[in-house]
Amino acid sequence: MPEDAKQKITALFQQVANRYDNPAMRYFPFCGDRMITHLRPRPGEKILDIATGTGAVALPAAQAVAPHGRVQAIDLAENMLNIAANNLQRAGLNNVDFHLMDAESLDFKSRYFDAVTCSFGIFFLSDMQAALKEWKRVLKPGGKVIFTTFSANAFAPLAEQFRADLELFDVTFPEETWLRLTTETECLELLHSAGFENNQTTTEQLGYHLNSPADWWEIILSSGLRGFLNALDNEQQEQLQQRHLANIQSHVTDKGLWLDVETLFAIGQRPA
Ligand SMILES: C[S@@+](CC[C@H](N)C(=O)[O-])C[C@H]1O[C@@H](n2cnc3c(N)ncnc32)[C@H](O)[C@@H]1O
Repeated sequence: MPEDAKQKITALFQQVANRYDNPAMRYFPFCGDRMITHLRPRPGEKILDIATGTGAVALPAAQAVAPHGRVQAIDLAENMLNIAANNLQRAGLNNVDFHLMDAESLDFKSRYFDAVTCSFGIFFLSDMQAALKEWKRVLKPGGKVIFTTFSANAFAPLAEQFRADLELFDVTFPEETWLRLTTETECLELLHSAGFENNQTTTEQLGYHLNSPADWWEIILSSGLRGFLNALDNEQQEQLQQRHLANIQSHVTDKGLWLDVETLFAIGQRPA
């Protein structure tokens, strides 16, 4: 990936790190748990969690492989890793090592891990196939990779409205969002092209009702969506917020504001 794109993504997650673990974004830890349920790691195994963020997958992975198994968790945003380390300590676990490391160039020896996990990280990488090949390198023969991505329906209709409201401020959604990888077929083709076998995918709805449109704005401020606001000055951000929250008000029901989090899980195996 071009270095400036990588630096931009890193700076973005440095910026949102201290708000990332907020209740409105609880789909991340719940998804991490689902991922480990799908993967079914055994006690004693060695797991690599790529783009670990604040540890949404690393923590349930550490719990599953304890006491003798170990998780290596990597990310490029140091602020995210610091929060992950804190979360680990609060959970009473001590079998995760955190590293500032690029998902596209791993500093681990070949054929070492039983499994590689990556939740909502792969679509940030410019060459997803090359990255998967690198992840395959560090897997033992027969070891498994599992990753998640959002389906095209995720965050509908809120994300579409955000996109439309942003365009009024001359900000456009760039290519490098989750929209690069949104179908089971694309995930299966990607796994196959990177040399994995026994590939499987499944789609799950991990959505829930937010209390109010303000919770959706909190998600915008605390996630990758924040990057689109950075092009605007404070006054424009306030104007956008007012316009956008007014526009999504019509989606509020007596249950609250539905947050669609349709998620794809993709799993493959390094040939034995
Ligand atoms: C949407 S967050 C997901 C974090 C976590 N896996 C979760 O499910 O909550 C994406 C993470 O990918 C990290 N990331 C992006 N590009 C990366 C790269 N090239 N190498 C390592 N981490 C990267 C970001 O810093 C961020 O923490």
